[in-house]
Amino acid sequence: MIQNDLTKKFSKTTRVTHGITALLILALFPLGKYMEGLEISEKMGLVKIHAVLGILVFILTIIRTISFFRHKRPVHLKTGSKFNDKLTVWIHNIFYFLLFGIAISGIATMILGGYGEALQTGNIDVIKSHSEIASLKPHGIMALIMMILLILHVVGVVKHLILKKENTLKRII
Ligand code: HEM
Repeated sequence: MIQNDLTKKFSKTTRVTHGITALLILALFPLGKYMEGLEISEKMGLVKIHAVLGILVFILTIIRTISFFRHKRPVHLKTGSKFNDKLTVWIHNIFYFLLFGIAISGIATMILGGYGEALQTGNIDVIKSHSEIASLKPHGIMALIMMILLILHVVGVVKHLILKKENTLKRII
């Protein structure tokens, strides 16, 4: 029988930044996909919102990374399967790398694609077509991979709850 100590929580900073980041990601992905299909003239307001919320995710990820190394963390969860134990840790680690990659490629897209200049000057003619912006494809691909991992992440929590009767969310909320 698996028994994890769920009274040991992550630090408050980690818990708060984790929750806000999760909500922001759930808004940013559909927003990014929605913007893709719009004409440039229709989407500048949304690009601004997307960029501001995305930069907020970036800042929260930096804070969470610092907090990760600064504070004592609860021991890794035991799931009953060696493979799942490792998968849990790797999904968590990959999230950090993807969040940095998505934020940096997003900022690069703002600069290289002319979005930043267009927002400053009001001249949307400086915005390049999607195929000309090298950082946009990696941005979209990393965001998609992250959404797949997010689903696996949630499936893992629900599976553990059903099979092991442990609410592991207690450690992070
Ligand atoms: C976790 C954070 C983020 C997520 C999940 C996200 C997600 C997405 C997605 C799914 C797209 C559509 C990509 C495609 O063409 O396939 C997109 C586009 C875009 N993102 Fe992000 N993004 C994030 C952060 C950022 C940041 C930090 C910035 C800039 C500061 C940014 C700027 C942009 C821009 C400029 C586009 C192109 C909009 C267009 O022309 O249609 N994103 N994003």
